[in-house]
Amino acid sequence: MRSLFITTILGMLALTGCQSSPPAGVTSSVFGHLPDGKPVTLYTLKNSSGSYVSIMDYGATVVDLVVPDRLGKPGDVSLGFDTFEPYLTKSPYFGASIGRFGNRIAKGQFALEGKSYQLAINDTPNTLHGGTRGFDKCQWSAAILPGSEAAVRFSRVSPDGEEGYPGTLTVAVTYRFTADNRLEIAYEAATDKTTVLNLTNHTYFNLAGRGPASIKDHQLLIRASHYTPVDDTLIPTGEIKAVSGTPFDFQVATPIGQRLSQAGGKPIGYDHNFVLDARPDGVPLVEVSEPTTGRWMHVFSDQPGVQFYSGNFLDGTLTGKDGQHYQQYTAIVLETQHFPDSPNQPGFPTTVLKPGETYRTKTTYAFGVNTR
Ligand code: GLA
Repeated sequence: MRSLFITTILGMLALTGCQSSPPAGVTSSVFGHLPDGKPVTLYTLKNSSGSYVSIMDYGATVVDLVVPDRLGKPGDVSLGFDTFEPYLTKSPYFGASIGRFGNRIAKGQFALEGKSYQLAINDTPNTLHGGTRGFDKCQWSAAILPGSEAAVRFSRVSPDGEEGYPGTLTVAVTYRFTADNRLEIAYEAATDKTTVLNLTNHTYFNLAGRGPASIKDHQLLIRASHYTPVDDTLIPTGEIKAVSGTPFDFQVATPIGQRLSQAGGKPIGYDHNFVLDARPDGVPLVEVSEPTTGRWMHVFSDQPGVQFYSGNFLDGTLTGKDGQHYQQYTAIVLETQHFPDSPNQPGFPTTVLKPGETYRTKTTYAFGVNTR
């Protein structure tokens, strides 16, 4: 049982120093403690239909995401842990905000304005997801936002030189959960020295809800006619390759399992960046659906790419929510992002952020059900 002290909205107002009226449906509780004794707070954003998302301030991490199936039965569509403790040492980025740089930078090296930088190598021989202590392993400040919809803004200052990255970076991640079950994640950042930045979210989804189900039967559509092939350390080769005729062609909805064994990699599976095609407004970049529960998820973003990861590294050793042992291919991760290793790839869209510029990007995961 996780819930310890459910504070009232008035209590939260006092905590955040916010004077105006709070949104209905945001509650907070102590989820656990950091090794130094500091409490970790879990914010639950509930909408009028009773669906909710819980997000903790450690890593600005999505912990639970509960939406109905086609019969109206609520189910948690995110993987994670029941208690805080395992998030400290065991989490493969479950639900976390990833920074400064999502995905890999080759050999942890890059050059900017004539200067070379060496980052921590935490995924030999590369840097992965911001390094040894990325944004996922930091406690963020939190503020409940006023307004008609449940929203919490997490912020932090990443000091100059943190994990080897230049520039003091002020960063905020705002989660909003709407009445129609859309989880909106808005990122904002500014720096005082030229730096590189690639923020994303690392929620592991399984639309069947809690249970041991594999995601092989999930239907996936990705509006990408190209992807970035990788070498055997998962660094892009630099090529932007057409998906047609490859196991990476998800331009038509296809069960994930259909060509999974042909996706390559060690372990085998999808762990690739897709180059998103231009889309009319309101058209999702990814559509996923699960046949037994009828749940679907649509992903919207202004980012140029999405990393589709099929949970290849899950191997049954982690004890997750409800004592489940998460097996390989029991989750789908859709990390909207700039392309991996962009700082070393002149052919990719730039990830450089300069003083005076504001980094702003938004990704939405929208949930619904097919009625038959
Ligand atoms: C990302 C990476 C994967 C893996 C997971 C975490 O999706 O691309 O290779 O590292 O994070 O396990």
